[in-house]
Parts: sequence; C-alpha cells; structure tokens
Amino acid sequence: ASLELGPYSHFMQKEIHEQPRALTDTLEAIIDDNSFSPALFGADAESVFKEVDSILILAAGTSYYAGLTAKYWLESIAGLPTSVEIASEYRYRKSVANPKQLIITISQSGETLDTMEALKHAKSLGQHLTLAICNVQESAIPRASRLVLYTRAGAEIGVASTKAFTTQLVALFTLAATFAKQRGLLDAEQEQAYIDNLRHLPGSVQYALNLEPQIREWAKAFSNKFHALFLGRGMHYPIALEGALKLKEISYIHAEAYPAGELKHGPLALVDKNMPVVVIAPNDALLEKVKSNMQEVRARGGELFVFADADSNFTESEGVHVIRTPRHVGVLSPILHTIPVQLLAYHAALLKGTDVDKPRNLAKSVTVE
Ligand code: G6P
Repeated sequence: ASLELGPYSHFMQKEIHEQPRALTDTLEAIIDDNSFSPALFGADAESVFKEVDSILILAAGTSYYAGLTAKYWLESIAGLPTSVEIASEYRYRKSVANPKQLIITISQSGETLDTMEALKHAKSLGQHLTLAICNVQESAIPRASRLVLYTRAGAEIGVASTKAFTTQLVALFTLAATFAKQRGLLDAEQEQAYIDNLRHLPGSVQYALNLEPQIREWAKAFSNKFHALFLGRGMHYPIALEGALKLKEISYIHAEAYPAGELKHGPLALVDKNMPVVVIAPNDALLEKVKSNMQEVRARGGELFVFADADSNFTESEGVHVIRTPRHVGVLSPILHTIPVQLLAYHAALLKGTDVDKPRNLAKSVTVE
C-alpha cells in the first residue's frame, strides 16, 4: 500500500489531495468545448432535457449532500423546481409521479442498493426521464438510466467520500448551466464567465489544500471534544452537513449541522465552551446574517472556527478563529469550502487514532438494505 500512497498516510488524505486533478479530468470535455452542451450527458440528452419541467434527485450519504447543493444551482440558474430525497425514504413512500420530471440519481459507486431501488421505483411509476451521475463506469445505476454523466475522480478507496463529492458537484453545476442555456436563461457572456470559474476551480482548490498546516492546528481543538456543531447558510448549508458527516464518520465525534438561522430554534441550548462551532462563511448575500448568528454563539461561550474567503472581512478575536480560503470562486464556492472541512475531519481523526480509511461499522458501498 505504501507505494500506492506515495507521500500520504492514508487513502483519504491522498484522495483529498487528488481533487485538483479529479476536477480537471471531470471538467475536461466542458473546458475543451468551451460551452455547456447537453451532449455531455448522452446523445439523447438534448431531446430528453426539452421534456423536463422539474427535477427529483435521489441519493444516499455524501452523494445526497451533493444533491442538496445542486438544488440551489438548478433553481437559481436554471429555474427548474428541484427536490432532493434520501433514496431509502423515497422508495417506500407513496409519492406523486410526474412523467416530465427528470430523476437524477447520484452515486459514487453506482451500486448503492437503496439508490438503485429508488430508481427502479421511479421507473415503475412511469418516470422514464432518468440521469445518473456516477463515478464507476458501467455500474448498475448508470446501466439502468437513460442518460449518464461519469465523474472522473478515479478509484476512491477511503470509505469516507471526498474527491467523488467535489466532482459530483462540478457535474451538477454543469448540468444546471446546461439547462439554463437550453431554457434561454444563460447568455453568451454569462456562459463564458461560468466556464472561466470552472477553469480556475482546480487552482483555487489547490490553494485551499495548502491550508492544511493551519487546519491541522485547529484539529487539536476538536479531537478532545465529544460534540461539534457546523453552521452554514444557503448553498453552504449542505457543505456544513457534509463537514459534520465527515467528522462523525471518521473521528466518531458527534457532529451536527444546522442552517445558521435555525440556531435559536434549538441547538443554541447546547452551545458552551465544550462544543466547538465551525462556520462556513463566504462573502455572499447572507454573510451579515451569519455574522449575527456567530455573535449568538459567542455570547454563550462557544468557540468559533470560521472558514471565510478572501473578501469576507473577518478578524480573529478571543474565541473566534478564522481561516481564509484564498480566492473567491463565485457560485462554485460550496466546492471550494468543502476542502477545509474534509481536512479538519481527517486531522481530528488522526489525532484520535481512529482507522481513517476503514471507520468502524461503515462500508464503502452499501449493497444490502
Ligand atoms: C456509503 C459510503 C459513503 C457514500 C454513501 C453513498 O455510506 O460510506 O461515503 O457517500 O455510501 O454511496 P454512493 O456510492 O451511492 O455514492
């Protein structure tokens, strides 16, 4: 294994660091083409997309959080009503079928049983517009889908998904931009701006990876705690969820994520000096709101660990630690902010001495119910 790992201690660490390459590979066709084209999703995609009036995303685990993030892009950029549902819930629920709805399954492995069964369930209800976003060629879920986009993260070995997640996000962003263009909501100038954002993303992710030494220091404040809270707002709320999931999966520290505006409706009661609070706080329209949520935490003695971006304008103070992701990447910001929460979970787990690549009780691909 040491040969395969190169300079890294675990597959998870290696896979975190492979993200610039994984993103570059996944984006290759879009960047080469310099446009968003339905053909990326299959020969049939242009005609299928024309029929679509709304979207339902079905997935599990980290892939579900990629779906939650995509909802923001699909609604705000493409104007398509989007719902996102846990596959194991949808498959047993009596739902209202809509044959014009695009069913998107997201799965790294393409073999997750609940996601596969959710897809079959949708088809049994007459929903035949199906698209799989998947990392493993020719696996079960893409084989059962009409359209496919393969992410090109490469083999992912660590049980906790990292590079698959960020490549799913670029695939889903691309889908939103492609729909927007087809629906006449994306002019040529905005299309170029998005493609430029995508082109610069791998470089910005590399900058975020360079924060590892600082994040390793922060991890010391987590490894001896029993609980942690992650806060985000808007399209960064799913990234808070993913950060909390990563931390609990590999370090066994109980972590929860909340949209920061909900703090006062419950979790604030738990905040004290023993519960570190991670805040994802890029400079977007919600930043001022997030800042006031942070004051509510500080007032209860909670220690804040803030991931901000270049122009968020935060200063460190007593109980408020700030790490700045060095670049602002616009609407792709959730992708950039994923990197520090992955690294935080990894280093907290290292300090605890858990089995990072094979956490207890978990499997890479869950092919049973
Ligand atoms: C398991 C893995 C997770 C993964 C989830 C969904 O729980 O441990 O890392 O996110 O399955 O897997 P999929 O292959 O469908 O994305």
